[in-house]
Amino acid sequence: MDFSLKTGKPARQHTDCAILPVFDDGVLRGATEAIDRSARGAIKQLVRVGDAAGRLGATTLFHRTTGPARRWLLVGCGKHADFDARRLATALGAAVAALRGIGTREALSYLAYGADSIGAEQAARQSVETARAQVYRFDELKSRRDPPPKLTRLGISLPPGSEIRAARRGIKIGTAIANGADLARDLGNRPANVCTPTHLAETARALAKRFKKLEVKVLSEPDMRRLGMGALLAVTQGADEPARVIVIHYRGAGPKVAPIAICGKGVTFDTGGISLKQPPKMDEMKFDMCGAGGVLGAMAAIGELEPECNVVAVVPACENMPGSDATRPGDVVTSMSGQTIEILNTDAEGRLILCDAMTYARQFKPRCLLDVATLTGACVVALGHVYTGLFCNDEPLAAALRAAGERSLDPVWRLPLHDEYGETLRSNFADFANSGTRDGGASVAANFLSRFVDGLPWAHLDIAGVAWRANANKGATGRPVPLLVDFLLAAAVQ
Ligand code: BES
Ligand code: MN
Ligand code: ZN
Repeated sequence: MDFSLKTGKPARQHTDCAILPVFDDGVLRGATEAIDRSARGAIKQLVRVGDAAGRLGATTLFHRTTGPARRWLLVGCGKHADFDARRLATALGAAVAALRGIGTREALSYLAYGADSIGAEQAARQSVETARAQVYRFDELKSRRDPPPKLTRLGISLPPGSEIRAARRGIKIGTAIANGADLARDLGNRPANVCTPTHLAETARALAKRFKKLEVKVLSEPDMRRLGMGALLAVTQGADEPARVIVIHYRGAGPKVAPIAICGKGVTFDTGGISLKQPPKMDEMKFDMCGAGGVLGAMAAIGELEPECNVVAVVPACENMPGSDATRPGDVVTSMSGQTIEILNTDAEGRLILCDAMTYARQFKPRCLLDVATLTGACVVALGHVYTGLFCNDEPLAAALRAAGERSLDPVWRLPLHDEYGETLRSNFADFANSGTRDGGASVAANFLSRFVDGLPWAHLDIAGVAWRANANKGATGRPVPLLVDFLLAAAVQ
């Protein structure tokens, strides 16, 4: 999809379809008012008779025989005083969805006229991300592909006085994030017989070929054994599919600049292992690599945008399978850190592969360490599908992630870290166990990971509730690519 910026008088801009904001008080504002005036009050009349509603996301299409727009798509934007970037995204998403079914090849959005407070960069960026997410389809495994979306060009009309350069930057950043999110969605949606650890590694290698500041190294199981990654190896040992650790360096600043390290959980299928999961919805455990997918997507976006910072991504990837070679509940393993772990529940596998990845990442002397994982069902219970769970031992880092989440519309909510959550991990046979009580399970998992941080500023992002949608719209969302990219851009030297 192509995006372009338009300035000038709304009433004179030619388009297949003008996307016009309508608010729930029925008062026409900005471009809608200007176009209405040139159409002698036609829109006002439609609103008055109740044919165009201001309810957020409501769309009404009108065909025109006169004027520069062949169609008007009136889009409800809710209460004017509440209109913000998130509502702009909701409204544009509804508009693009409504246009999918008809012949429109090109449209021009006037939603940026809805509120000055949003700013040209943010309006452009969210328009691009939303439209791209809306036209995304995953049909590579269908024998008959869906017809490609007809809508291939979206203009973004800017109110007078907008900063064009900022809007251009918004399109550039939005496009890179959308590309990264599409990659994360594709990887998440691919089933486990396609998206294997090897597939993730090949995807990373392809990124390094495409973006000159990315470099990839892939560790195989003998490498992991040499490094002493006993926790990761315990998870993969029941699977025939070989495990991988994918290491991606992004070098956008000098060699003396400490990198930001990010680990992403890449369990390409989580059966639970010997602590086998229940059958209902088990297919969704192909999404248990969405931490890895989100990290690869974010690295792709960073490779495209080339900010002045250094990043190192460490992605542990494997399957969690039962079998005669599989780890048994009660087995004790030694992690790369030297700490021993009693594996009481083989379904608490994410923390086992992450702890070795985090220990491995420490060799790069990062300024901070992030990990991203579909780690606990308990986080889904706590936060649903709205917020990513954030656990953080450092206030400035937590504030930076919170701000990035708000700006990128990919928000996080802080959940507690506390030593007492670790009491349930006590073991009579090893330094500690990998699972404890179900109560406060997201914080118990975070406590487990905190034992491998060794004083670094660290943030754990539990994306179990936000990385995919279930039911009729089942599929990967592309989160947390917007959050990670926004955070990395803000952390870069401007
Ligand atoms: N991948 C799951 C977490 C998960 C479950 C994400 C459901 C999304 C939906 C993880 O490996 C897991 O199984 N966690 C267990 C931990 C427990 C055994 C301590 C959980 O959350 O039940
Ligand atoms: Mn599990
Ligand atoms: Zn898992």
